[in-house]
Amino acid sequence: MTSRNEQLMELRTQHVPAGVALLSPAFIAQAQGAIMTDVDGRELIDFAGGIGVNNVGHCHPKVVAAIQEQAAKFIHTCFHVAPYQGYIDLAARLNELAPGDFPKQTMLANSGAEAVENAVKIARYATKRPAVISMENGFHGRTLMTMALTSKVKPYKLGFGPFAPETYRIPSAYCYRCPYGSSYPACGCACAEKLEDFFTGFVAAEQTAAVIVEPIQGEGGFITPPPEYFEKLQKICHKHGILLIIDEIQTGMGRTGKLFAIDHWGITPDLITTAKSLGGGMPLSAVTGRAEIMNAPHPGGLGGTYGGNPLSCAAALAVLKIFLEDGLLEKSVQLGEKLQGRFSAMQQNYEMIGEVRGKGPMLALELVRDRQTKEPAGAEAKKLVKLCYDKGLVILNCGALGNVVRFLMPLVITDEQLERGLGILEESLQEVSCGK
Ligand SMILES: Cc1ncc(COP(=O)(O)O)c(C=O)c1O
Repeated sequence: MTSRNEQLMELRTQHVPAGVALLSPAFIAQAQGAIMTDVDGRELIDFAGGIGVNNVGHCHPKVVAAIQEQAAKFIHTCFHVAPYQGYIDLAARLNELAPGDFPKQTMLANSGAEAVENAVKIARYATKRPAVISMENGFHGRTLMTMALTSKVKPYKLGFGPFAPETYRIPSAYCYRCPYGSSYPACGCACAEKLEDFFTGFVAAEQTAAVIVEPIQGEGGFITPPPEYFEKLQKICHKHGILLIIDEIQTGMGRTGKLFAIDHWGITPDLITTAKSLGGGMPLSAVTGRAEIMNAPHPGGLGGTYGGNPLSCAAALAVLKIFLEDGLLEKSVQLGEKLQGRFSAMQQNYEMIGEVRGKGPMLALELVRDRQTKEPAGAEAKKLVKLCYDKGLVILNCGALGNVVRFLMPLVITDEQLERGLGILEESLQEVSCGK
């Protein structure tokens, strides 16, 4: 007899195009905290968080209550047609909390890609320049502009071109596989300074509106630049009047132990994009930045029918309260320390773990076949994800070669759930290492 999951999968194949990504075959009936239950009643420990969306956990009671309360008042008016206070309250909160002791403004949209699209529009308008530089291994979304800014070709770009013009890419600070063959710290973090050379060979600085970069490259493999990287990059940007856009869509909202990951590097970006965990599961994104830049475009140039939907704003205000008033940021720091300890111990035991990297609980394991040659273990990472799933743990891989396993579990995960999940991970690592 086929299971309910199998029945739904058949219907999915029939009614939904194959292009819509499928990472795990379980159809979810309900979810709470860090546990999802599928339609056949099987419990899954969630180490993926809906790709970094569920930092406050599935169905956090305060988020659910905020959505319900708002839904009973009104669901949609369109902020352009008939504005409402939730949008203003959230914008004010993000302006206050985002790094930088200067006047800021925020606009709201629906998805991460939409926030990046808007950040690029605003940067171009404010600087009156066309070019945007992104990073190798960067990921910014699946719309036309964000595909152009994204690095990984398969599956994100293949066959979907031509891409948006005036987009360029420079190597990122991938120290484990330095694109310049150097090693940190002996290199002096010279890769950040290569941006200066780029203006000679690829695009003029005076034609460049913005550099867009993730603090930790999420989809790209949790690539984490050295401490001095962003200050150097920003110095060059500012020298040439180029705006620095920090894409915090995956790293933001407490994922790294700080509300904004860029605070680990101590710089103040010109524009910041947030989404994912900001809405606690509701579709929501934001562009926050220096008021004079944000305010540049003419009235009507920015927006959209659903941007900053009332339910999403109510959910996000609850999310921020949970971080700041219920101690979730502190919990995130503790979870990070615990995970770092456990993963470092695993690295001692499993040759396959070439590097453990990230910040706070935003950590990943880069798997290699040989620690000397660093040959990427992509097939093994895929097998690990499958083995974990079979044992009831959802994890995700990432990286250009798919050989990085990343962890984005809800920060509210209990110790018992975490231990169970880590137990499954270790057992599966053992099996993959032994070639079972
Ligand atoms: C850093 C980053 N930027 C942008 C996006 C795109 O967000 P969305 O899928 O909501 O469009 C993502 C999604 O994974 C992301 O990780």
